[in-house]
Amino acid sequence: MNSLSGKKILLGISGGIAAYKAPLIIRNLVKRGAEVKVILTPAAKDFVTPLTLSTLSNNSVHWSFVETEFGNPQWVNHVELGLWANLFLIAPATANTISSMVHGRCNNLLLATYLSTRCPVMVAPAMDLDMYAHTRTQYNIDSLVKQNVRVLDVGEGFLASGLHGKGRMLEPQEIAQEVENFFTKNLPLKGKSVMITAGPTYEAIDPVRFIGNHSSGKMGYCLAEVALQLGARVTLISGPSSLKLEHQNLEIIKVQSAEDMFQATISTFQSMDIIIAAAAVADFKPKICRDSKIKKENTLNHITLEPTRDILKFVGQNKTDQYLVGFALESDNELENAKKKIVDKKLDAIVLNSLNDPGAGFRSPQNKITYIHKDFTKTEYPLKEKIKVAQDIFNQIISKM
Ligand code: CTP
Repeated sequence: MNSLSGKKILLGISGGIAAYKAPLIIRNLVKRGAEVKVILTPAAKDFVTPLTLSTLSNNSVHWSFVETEFGNPQWVNHVELGLWANLFLIAPATANTISSMVHGRCNNLLLATYLSTRCPVMVAPAMDLDMYAHTRTQYNIDSLVKQNVRVLDVGEGFLASGLHGKGRMLEPQEIAQEVENFFTKNLPLKGKSVMITAGPTYEAIDPVRFIGNHSSGKMGYCLAEVALQLGARVTLISGPSSLKLEHQNLEIIKVQSAEDMFQATISTFQSMDIIIAAAAVADFKPKICRDSKIKKENTLNHITLEPTRDILKFVGQNKTDQYLVGFALESDNELENAKKKIVDKKLDAIVLNSLNDPGAGFRSPQNKITYIHKDFTKTEYPLKEKIKVAQDIFNQIISKM
């Protein structure tokens, strides 16, 4: 999972020498998870080949209103391309393309798409320093900004003309970063830190055996995924789980036992804004963990257990202004027990799972929850995929923060 996962970006390339960097823009966007389609102006084809662009974007590349497929002329639907995109990025944008956009010209596929698209448009100008500084170009750039087009800055340095100055297209990585900033700046959890505990814990009996439970970690990992989509930095403290999640804003701390999870939590939770305890932490652990494997001839009649530390309760008692959400897995008196946990553990809310709901809970891809606030107002949700349940939980949290 990446910062631009699920985002559709239409890259328009106009005919300037900076077009040779367009493949690297595609690579940077694709690496961040975006899907990219490409439109070239006819002049851009002199600087970069459609084959390179289609190979890197893994999509077809268009430059003409009519293309031939298997000997038959085909109409390239610029309206459809414009509607497909979440962002139309024009990079490089030459002085000519910028001027044509301002004046509503429509003599190539890129310009026709600009006129028909409904998504936001971003341009990365690239030209010689005198062209960039010219009053007409500056007037055109101001006009585009007034038309709500996001015009990126230009770089300063060596130019294809041999001159030195302002007019270079931003580097591909910088452009990709601008695209990412554009998509993340209004996200509701931008700038927030979220800590989630997930999965089971394993309490060792000897080097090969443990006491554990059936939690897969799925609910906690889905919560982490949604928090990342909402712009948060996430620390996921995960008990043993086969699930994988990668993101530049994600730190995963892998732990085994309840005590490991406790230690990881206490060194992390103070700097968090939101804490969600989704882990199925063992309540008891063997009092003694043998150093070597217990052999069957040394008959084992019983294992003496002692309680683990309640991680969530510790956080509830020691937190400052963090928003704290716990889970409650209940089989009887569900609502009453969940409400009691809100009070005992000083929670802002609890997510109630009932063992009596068929299709929900451990090992299931779905879950059925009741979300209860600390004032005991509650929302009951139907059985859903866990990723949708995670979205419901964050909608509740965001509405209260
Ligand atoms: N929890 C925790 N540390 C523990 C036990 C539980 O942080 N040692 C957290 C869980 O992650 C969950 C909440 O406490 O968010 C409630 O867990 P649950 O198993 O439903 O309840 P318990 O507090 O363990 O009590 P009981 O098993 O008696 O219902």
